[in-house]
Amino acid sequence: MRTVYVNGEYMPETEAKVSIFDRGFLMADGVYEVTSVLGGKLIDFAGHTARLHRSLNELDMAEPCTDDELLAIHRELVERNNIVDGMIYLQVTRGNPGDRDFAFPSADTKPTLVLFTQSKPGMAESPMAKIGMKVISIDDIRWGRRDIKTVQLLYPSMGKMMAKKAGCDDAWLVEEGKVTEGTSNNAYIVKGNRIITRELSNDILHGITRAAVLRFAREAQMEVEERAFTIAEAQGADEAFITSASTFVMPVVEIDGKAVGTGKPGSVAARLREIYLEESLKAAI
Ligand code: PDD
Repeated sequence: MRTVYVNGEYMPETEAKVSIFDRGFLMADGVYEVTSVLGGKLIDFAGHTARLHRSLNELDMAEPCTDDELLAIHRELVERNNIVDGMIYLQVTRGNPGDRDFAFPSADTKPTLVLFTQSKPGMAESPMAKIGMKVISIDDIRWGRRDIKTVQLLYPSMGKMMAKKAGCDDAWLVEEGKVTEGTSNNAYIVKGNRIITRELSNDILHGITRAAVLRFAREAQMEVEERAFTIAEAQGADEAFITSASTFVMPVVEIDGKAVGTGKPGSVAARLREIYLEESLKAAI
Protein backbone atom coordinates (compact mmCIF):
# COMPACT_ATOMS: atom_id res chain seq x y z
CA MET A 1 0.00 0.00 0.00
CA ARG A 2 1.22 3.46 -0.86
CA THR A 3 2.16 6.12 1.63
CA VAL A 4 0.73 9.45 0.53
CA TYR A 5 1.02 13.01 1.81
CA VAL A 6 -1.96 15.16 2.86
CA ASN A 7 -1.61 18.56 4.53
CA GLY A 8 1.53 17.95 6.55
CA GLU A 9 1.08 14.25 7.21
CA TYR A 10 2.25 10.99 5.69
CA MET A 11 -0.33 8.21 5.85
CA PRO A 12 -1.52 5.02 4.10
CA GLU A 13 -3.52 5.86 0.96
CA THR A 14 -6.67 4.32 2.47
CA GLU A 15 -6.61 6.82 5.32
CA ALA A 16 -6.11 9.96 3.23
CA LYS A 17 -9.10 12.29 3.30
CA VAL A 18 -10.06 15.65 1.81
CA SER A 19 -13.26 17.54 2.70
CA ILE A 20 -16.35 17.39 0.47
CA PHE A 21 -16.25 21.22 0.67
CA ASP A 22 -12.75 21.35 -0.78
CA ARG A 23 -12.65 23.85 -3.66
CA GLY A 24 -10.71 21.33 -5.71
CA PHE A 25 -13.61 18.88 -5.49
CA LEU A 26 -16.46 21.41 -5.93
CA MET A 27 -14.95 23.89 -8.41
CA ALA A 28 -11.85 22.25 -9.91
CA ASP A 29 -10.17 25.15 -8.10
CA GLY A 30 -6.76 23.57 -7.96
CA VAL A 31 -3.47 23.23 -9.77
CA TYR A 32 -1.11 20.30 -10.14
CA GLU A 33 2.30 19.12 -11.24
CA VAL A 34 3.63 15.75 -12.34
CA THR A 35 7.33 15.17 -11.78
CA SER A 36 9.10 12.09 -13.12
CA VAL A 37 11.37 9.91 -11.05
CA LEU A 38 14.14 7.95 -12.76
CA GLY A 39 16.60 5.86 -10.80
CA GLY A 40 15.08 7.24 -7.58
CA LYS A 41 15.83 10.84 -8.57
CA LEU A 42 13.58 13.74 -9.52
CA ILE A 43 13.66 14.98 -13.12
CA ASP A 44 13.60 18.78 -13.50
CA PHE A 45 12.21 19.47 -10.03
CA ALA A 46 13.19 23.15 -10.31
CA GLY A 47 11.17 23.52 -13.53
CA HIS A 48 8.05 21.97 -12.03
CA THR A 49 8.34 24.06 -8.88
CA ALA A 50 8.71 27.24 -10.93
CA ARG A 51 5.60 26.43 -12.96
CA LEU A 52 3.66 25.58 -9.79
CA HIS A 53 4.45 29.05 -8.42
CA ARG A 54 3.31 30.57 -11.69
CA SER A 55 0.02 28.62 -11.72
CA LEU A 56 -0.69 29.56 -8.07
CA ASN A 57 0.17 33.19 -8.71
CA GLU A 58 -2.07 33.44 -11.81
CA LEU A 59 -5.00 32.18 -9.71
CA ASP A 60 -4.26 34.24 -6.57
CA MET A 61 -3.81 31.04 -4.65
CA ALA A 62 -1.62 30.80 -1.56
CA GLU A 63 1.68 28.89 -1.57
CA PRO A 64 1.15 25.74 0.49
CA CYS A 65 4.76 25.60 1.76
CA THR A 66 8.33 26.51 0.86
CA ASP A 67 10.31 24.98 -2.04
CA ASP A 68 12.62 23.23 0.42
CA GLU A 69 9.62 21.62 2.10
CA LEU A 70 8.23 20.57 -1.29
CA LEU A 71 11.53 18.94 -2.21
CA ALA A 72 11.69 17.17 1.15
CA ILE A 73 8.14 15.80 0.69
CA HIS A 74 8.95 14.56 -2.85
CA ARG A 75 12.07 12.81 -1.60
CA GLU A 76 10.35 11.34 1.44
CA LEU A 77 7.59 9.85 -0.75
CA VAL A 78 10.14 8.38 -3.16
CA GLU A 79 11.91 6.76 -0.24
CA ARG A 80 8.87 5.54 1.68
CA ASN A 81 7.36 4.01 -1.46
CA ASN A 82 10.64 2.64 -2.86
CA ILE A 83 10.10 4.40 -6.16
CA VAL A 84 12.83 3.70 -8.69
CA ASP A 85 10.99 4.87 -11.81
CA GLY A 86 7.64 6.59 -11.83
CA MET A 87 5.89 9.86 -11.13
CA ILE A 88 5.01 12.10 -8.24
CA TYR A 89 1.65 13.81 -8.51
CA LEU A 90 1.20 17.04 -6.57
CA GLN A 91 -2.03 18.99 -6.20
CA VAL A 92 -2.75 22.26 -4.44
CA THR A 93 -6.32 23.50 -4.08
CA ARG A 94 -7.83 26.65 -2.60
CA GLY A 95 -8.80 24.55 0.39
CA ASN A 96 -11.95 23.96 2.38
CA PRO A 97 -14.01 27.07 3.24
CA GLY A 98 -16.63 24.90 5.01
CA ASP A 99 -19.38 25.55 2.47
CA ARG A 100 -19.99 26.02 -1.27
CA ASP A 101 -19.63 29.56 -2.62
CA PHE A 102 -18.50 30.90 -6.02
CA ALA A 103 -16.52 33.70 -4.39
CA PHE A 104 -13.02 32.82 -3.28
CA PRO A 105 -12.84 32.16 0.47
CA SER A 106 -11.02 34.52 2.83
CA ALA A 107 -7.25 34.46 2.84
CA ASP A 108 -7.10 32.51 6.09
CA THR A 109 -8.51 29.40 4.36
CA LYS A 110 -5.55 27.02 4.18
CA PRO A 111 -4.71 25.54 0.80
CA THR A 112 -4.97 21.76 0.50
CA LEU A 113 -1.73 20.02 -0.46
CA VAL A 114 -1.78 16.40 -1.62
CA LEU A 115 1.04 14.34 -3.11
CA PHE A 116 1.21 10.69 -4.13
CA THR A 117 3.52 8.44 -6.11
CA GLN A 118 2.87 6.27 -9.16
CA SER A 119 5.39 3.50 -9.69
CA LYS A 120 6.31 2.74 -13.34
CA PRO A 121 9.32 0.43 -13.37
CA GLY A 122 11.28 0.74 -16.63
CA MET A 123 9.38 3.89 -17.57
CA ALA A 124 12.25 5.18 -19.73
CA GLU A 125 12.18 1.97 -21.82
CA SER A 126 8.53 2.27 -22.85
CA PRO A 127 7.72 -0.04 -25.81
CA MET A 128 5.71 2.85 -27.28
CA ALA A 129 8.98 4.67 -28.06
CA LYS A 130 9.83 1.89 -30.54
CA ILE A 131 6.34 1.59 -32.07
CA GLY A 132 5.14 5.19 -32.03
CA MET A 133 1.72 6.59 -31.20
CA LYS A 134 -1.39 7.03 -33.30
CA VAL A 135 -3.33 10.24 -32.74
CA ILE A 136 -6.63 11.67 -33.90
CA SER A 137 -7.44 15.36 -34.13
CA ILE A 138 -10.33 16.89 -32.21
CA ASP A 139 -11.62 20.41 -31.63
CA ASP A 140 -9.91 22.26 -28.82
CA ILE A 141 -12.86 23.51 -26.77
CA ARG A 142 -10.95 24.05 -23.51
CA TRP A 143 -10.92 27.38 -21.67
CA GLY A 144 -8.59 30.25 -22.57
CA ARG A 145 -5.96 29.85 -19.81
CA ARG A 146 -4.34 26.57 -20.76
CA ASP A 147 -1.02 28.00 -19.57
CA ILE A 148 -2.24 27.44 -16.00
CA LYS A 149 -1.91 23.79 -14.98
CA THR A 150 -5.35 23.39 -13.42
CA VAL A 151 -7.13 20.15 -12.51
CA GLN A 152 -9.99 20.92 -14.93
CA LEU A 153 -9.13 17.87 -17.04
CA LEU A 154 -12.57 16.71 -18.15
CA TYR A 155 -12.17 17.62 -21.82
CA PRO A 156 -8.62 16.22 -22.12
CA SER A 157 -9.99 13.07 -20.48
CA MET A 158 -12.87 12.94 -23.01
CA GLY A 159 -10.33 13.48 -25.79
CA LYS A 160 -8.33 10.50 -24.60
CA MET A 161 -11.52 8.38 -24.71
CA MET A 162 -12.38 9.60 -28.23
CA ALA A 163 -8.89 8.50 -29.27
CA LYS A 164 -9.30 5.09 -27.63
CA LYS A 165 -12.66 4.60 -29.32
CA ALA A 166 -10.97 5.29 -32.66
CA GLY A 167 -8.29 2.70 -31.87
CA CYS A 168 -5.67 5.39 -31.26
CA ASP A 169 -3.46 6.44 -28.37
CA ASP A 170 -4.15 10.14 -27.97
CA ALA A 171 -5.75 13.23 -29.48
CA TRP A 172 -4.20 16.42 -30.81
CA LEU A 173 -6.36 19.48 -30.15
CA VAL A 174 -7.05 21.88 -32.99
CA GLU A 175 -8.19 25.48 -32.74
CA GLU A 176 -8.76 27.78 -35.72
CA GLY A 177 -7.21 25.15 -37.98
CA LYS A 178 -3.97 24.85 -36.01
CA VAL A 179 -2.78 22.26 -33.51
CA THR A 180 -2.52 23.62 -29.97
CA GLU A 181 -1.17 20.55 -28.12
CA GLY A 182 -1.99 16.96 -27.16
CA THR A 183 -4.49 16.09 -24.40
CA SER A 184 -1.63 15.98 -21.87
CA ASN A 185 1.50 16.76 -23.86
CA ASN A 186 3.05 19.26 -26.27
CA ALA A 187 3.01 18.52 -30.02
CA TYR A 188 5.84 18.77 -32.58
CA ILE A 189 6.60 18.05 -36.21
CA VAL A 190 9.97 17.63 -37.92
CA LYS A 191 10.90 18.77 -41.41
CA GLY A 192 14.47 17.95 -42.36
CA ASN A 193 16.65 19.28 -39.54
CA ARG A 194 13.92 21.62 -38.28
CA ILE A 195 11.68 21.04 -35.28
CA ILE A 196 8.39 22.92 -35.35
CA THR A 197 6.20 23.43 -32.28
CA ARG A 198 3.58 25.99 -31.33
CA GLU A 199 4.89 29.16 -29.66
CA LEU A 200 4.17 29.77 -25.97
CA SER A 201 0.99 31.70 -25.14
CA ASN A 202 -2.15 31.25 -23.04
CA ASP A 203 -3.29 28.66 -25.62
CA ILE A 204 -0.99 25.88 -24.41
CA LEU A 205 0.66 24.57 -21.28
CA HIS A 206 4.27 25.71 -21.08
CA GLY A 207 5.74 22.22 -20.90
CA ILE A 208 8.76 21.71 -18.68
CA THR A 209 9.85 18.89 -20.97
CA ARG A 210 9.27 21.19 -23.97
CA ALA A 211 11.66 23.79 -22.58
CA ALA A 212 14.36 21.18 -21.94
CA VAL A 213 13.94 19.42 -25.30
CA LEU A 214 14.09 22.68 -27.28
CA ARG A 215 17.23 23.68 -25.39
CA PHE A 216 18.89 20.32 -26.12
CA ALA A 217 17.78 20.49 -29.77
CA ARG A 218 19.39 23.90 -30.21
CA GLU A 219 22.56 22.71 -28.47
CA ALA A 220 22.65 19.77 -30.92
CA GLN A 221 22.53 22.28 -33.83
CA MET A 222 18.98 21.41 -34.81
CA GLU A 223 16.80 24.28 -35.99
CA VAL A 224 13.79 25.15 -33.86
CA GLU A 225 10.82 27.05 -35.24
CA GLU A 226 8.16 28.06 -32.73
CA ARG A 227 4.94 28.45 -34.70
CA ALA A 228 1.58 26.77 -35.08
CA PHE A 229 0.98 24.08 -37.75
CA THR A 230 -2.05 22.41 -39.29
CA ILE A 231 -2.98 18.72 -39.22
CA ALA A 232 -2.33 18.57 -43.00
CA GLU A 233 1.18 19.95 -42.50
CA ALA A 234 1.80 17.41 -39.71
CA GLN A 235 0.58 14.55 -41.90
CA GLY A 236 3.03 15.66 -44.60
CA ALA A 237 5.98 16.13 -42.21
CA ASP A 238 9.01 13.83 -41.95
CA GLU A 239 8.27 13.04 -38.32
CA ALA A 240 6.00 13.99 -35.46
CA PHE A 241 6.33 13.56 -31.72
CA ILE A 242 5.07 14.70 -28.33
CA THR A 243 6.74 15.60 -25.05
CA SER A 244 5.62 15.45 -21.42
CA ALA A 245 7.06 14.66 -18.01
CA SER A 246 5.62 11.15 -18.13
CA THR A 247 6.38 10.22 -21.77
CA PHE A 248 9.60 12.25 -22.27
CA VAL A 249 9.86 12.33 -26.08
CA MET A 250 7.42 9.97 -27.81
CA PRO A 251 7.15 9.51 -31.58
CA VAL A 252 3.80 9.96 -33.35
CA VAL A 253 3.51 7.79 -36.48
CA GLU A 254 -0.09 8.29 -37.56
CA ILE A 255 -2.46 11.28 -37.54
CA ASP A 256 -6.14 10.83 -38.41
CA GLY A 257 -5.34 7.53 -40.15
CA LYS A 258 -2.50 8.93 -42.28
CA ALA A 259 1.07 7.75 -41.78
CA VAL A 260 3.61 10.44 -40.91
CA GLY A 261 6.82 10.04 -42.94
CA THR A 262 7.67 6.33 -43.19
CA GLY A 263 4.98 5.44 -40.63
CA LYS A 264 7.77 4.37 -38.26
CA PRO A 265 9.35 6.37 -35.40
CA GLY A 266 11.81 8.85 -36.87
CA SER A 267 15.49 9.40 -36.15
CA VAL A 268 15.13 12.99 -34.90
CA ALA A 269 12.58 12.00 -32.24
CA ALA A 270 14.73 9.01 -31.26
CA ARG A 271 17.82 11.21 -30.93
CA LEU A 272 15.97 13.85 -28.91
CA ARG A 273 14.59 11.17 -26.61
CA GLU A 274 18.08 9.81 -26.05
CA ILE A 275 19.59 13.25 -25.37
CA TYR A 276 16.68 14.25 -23.13
CA LEU A 277 16.93 11.10 -20.98
CA GLU A 278 20.70 11.30 -20.77
CA GLU A 279 20.87 15.00 -19.85
CA SER A 280 17.88 14.88 -17.49
CA LEU A 281 19.33 11.93 -15.62
CA LYS A 282 22.62 13.80 -15.24
CA ALA A 283 20.82 16.79 -13.74
CA ALA A 284 18.30 14.77 -11.65
CA ILE A 285 18.28 15.44 -7.90
N1 PDD B 1 0.62 16.65 -18.52
N2 PDD B 1 0.23 20.06 -22.27
C1 PDD B 1 -0.72 19.59 -21.42
C2 PDD B 1 -2.14 19.94 -21.67
C3 PDD B 1 -0.34 18.78 -20.33
O1 PDD B 1 -1.27 18.32 -19.48
C4 PDD B 1 1.04 18.46 -20.13
C5 PDD B 1 1.51 17.63 -18.97
C6 PDD B 1 1.98 18.96 -21.06
C7 PDD B 1 3.45 18.69 -20.92
O2 PDD B 1 4.00 19.38 -19.83
P1 PDD B 1 5.28 18.82 -19.07
O3 PDD B 1 6.34 18.60 -20.10
O4 PDD B 1 5.65 19.88 -18.10
O5 PDD B 1 4.86 17.53 -18.42
C8 PDD B 1 1.53 19.77 -22.09
C9 PDD B 1 0.99 15.86 -17.35
C10 PDD B 1 2.17 14.97 -17.58
C11 PDD B 1 -0.23 15.11 -16.86
O6 PDD B 1 -1.29 15.71 -16.86
O7 PDD B 1 -0.12 13.95 -16.43
